[in-house]
Amino acid sequence: MKSTITLSLIGLTALGLSACGGSDNGSGKPAFETKSELGQALFHDVNLSANRTQACATCHNPEHGFVDSRHNVTSHSAEGAGSVSLGDDGTSLGDRNAPTAAYAQISPTFTEGTRTRFNSQQPDYEGFIGGQFHDGRSATLADQAEGPPLNAAEMGMASEAEVSTRIQENADYVAAFESLYGATVWDDATQTYKAMADAIAAFEQTETFAPFDSKYDRSLLDAEDPDYYEYNILSKANSGKVLFFSQQFTNCATCHQLKAQGRSGETFTGYEYHNIGVPKNLDAQTASGRGADFTDPGLLDNPAVTDESERGKYKVPTLRNVAITGPYMHNGVFAELDTVMRFYDHFITGSENTLNPETGVAWRDPKVPETVALTELKDGRKMTDANVEALVCFMLTLTDARYEHLISDEDWDNCEAP
Ligand code: HEC
Ligand code: HEC
Repeated sequence: MKSTITLSLIGLTALGLSACGGSDNGSGKPAFETKSELGQALFHDVNLSANRTQACATCHNPEHGFVDSRHNVTSHSAEGAGSVSLGDDGTSLGDRNAPTAAYAQISPTFTEGTRTRFNSQQPDYEGFIGGQFHDGRSATLADQAEGPPLNAAEMGMASEAEVSTRIQENADYVAAFESLYGATVWDDATQTYKAMADAIAAFEQTETFAPFDSKYDRSLLDAEDPDYYEYNILSKANSGKVLFFSQQFTNCATCHQLKAQGRSGETFTGYEYHNIGVPKNLDAQTASGRGADFTDPGLLDNPAVTDESERGKYKVPTLRNVAITGPYMHNGVFAELDTVMRFYDHFITGSENTLNPETGVAWRDPKVPETVALTELKDGRKMTDANVEALVCFMLTLTDARYEHLISDEDWDNCEAP
C-alpha cells in the first residue's frame, strides 16, 4: 500500500485542497485571479450562511469525497447514520442524502432525449437525462449553486441582498468580483448572486472535482506501469469488473455505464432517471419531522416534469468514490455497499437475498411501487456471496487516489485474496 499513500499525499498538496481563502501576501497581487480561485474560497466560506456555521464544504467535504461526512444527524442505527444533512440553524434536516459534488461537472444539462446504452441487453433509453440534484431540478452547476444559500434547511440566508452584503464584508472578494465580473456587479443583488454562483460552478468544474485517478483509471494505463500491477493483484475487484460490465450476469451497465467499455472518463452513470424501488428511510423521516406518511415525489419535484409516470424516479448517481460516500440512495436508507448489492439481487428470480442484512427482516416495499424499473432490474442472474463481494471490491477501485487512505488495509487485502 506504500505507493498509494505517497500518491494521495502528493495529490492533496498538488490539488491545493486546503480551505484557506488565499490572500494578498503583500505582493500586490489580487487574492483571487480566476473565477475558480474565487469559487474555491466561496465554496469553503461559512459567512454565506445565516449563522456563519455552514459552507458548501460542510455538506460536500473535499477531504471526504465531497459528501456530508458529519455523522451527527440521527442515530447510528442501520437506517439513521447521517442519512440527511443538518442545516445552518442547527435543527433543520433535509429529506435527501447529500450526493457527491465530485464528477457533477460531467452531468449533462437537464434535458429530455434518448441515450445509447452500452453492454446492455435493454433497448436504448428515452426520457429525462442529466441536470443537478437527485431530481435534476437545476439544469446546470451554476443554477444549482444558487440553491443552498437561500434554502431555509441549509444555509438559511434571507435574500440575495443579504448574501451580497456578506460578500462585500470581504475586501478580497470585492476586488475579485469587480475584476472578474465588472464594476457594476454590485448594482443589483441578483447580479451579485449570479456571479457568486458562477464562480462556485467554475471551481466545481476544475480537476479537483474530477481527477480520474482511481485504481480503475490507473489500470487502463500501460501494462508496464506499476499502477497497472497494483490494480491487477486485486483479483476479486477484477472479477467484479467482469460482472459489472457483463450482459449476462448483471444489469449494472444498463444504468451505470456512460461510455463504451474501457475508455477513460467513465463516470459510472448514464444520467438516466429510474425508480429502483428504494424503501422509505423511516428514521430520517421521523428525525426531519416529515413523519412516516411523507413520500418524496422524486423526479416529479422537478418543475419541468409533470407526468405521473415519472414519480419516484431519481437520477442514476455516479459510482466514483462510492466506497467512501455512504450511506446510500437518495434518502441514505442503506449503510453498506454489501446491502445495496443484496438489494439489487432481491429483484432477480430465485434470489436468496430475501432479508435486508441491516435490519434482519424482509426488504420493505418500494416507496413508489407503480414506477419501479422492473424490466431492467429483473434482468440478470442471481448473485452468490462471492459475486456480491467481487462487485463491492470493484467499487473500492473507483476511489480517487486522494481518498484511498479512507479504505482500510483489511478491505484492500480482502480484495487481493483469491
Ligand atoms: C446542509 C447541507 C448542504 C449544503 C450547505 C450544501 N449542499 Fe449541496 N446538496 C445537499 C443535498 C442534501 C443535496 C441533494 C438535494 C436534492 O437532490 O434535492 C445537494 C446537492 C448538490 C449538488 C448536486 C449533485 C448531483 O449529483 O446532483 C451539487 C453540485 C451541490 N449540492 C453543490 C453545493 C454547493 C455549490 C453548495 C454551496 C453553495 C452546497 N451544495 C451546499 C446538501 C448541501
Ligand atoms: C434501472 C437502472 C439501474 C440499474 C440496473 C442499476 N442501478 Fe444502481 N442506481 C440506480 C439509481 C436510479 C440509483 C439511485 C436510487 C435512489 O437514490 O433512489 C442507484 C444507486 C446505486 C448505488 C448507490 C449510490 C449512492 O451514492 O447512493 C450503487 C452502489 C449502485 N446503484 C450500484 C449498482 C450496481 C453494482 C448495479 C448492478 C448490480 C446497479 N447499480 C444496477 C439505477 C440503476
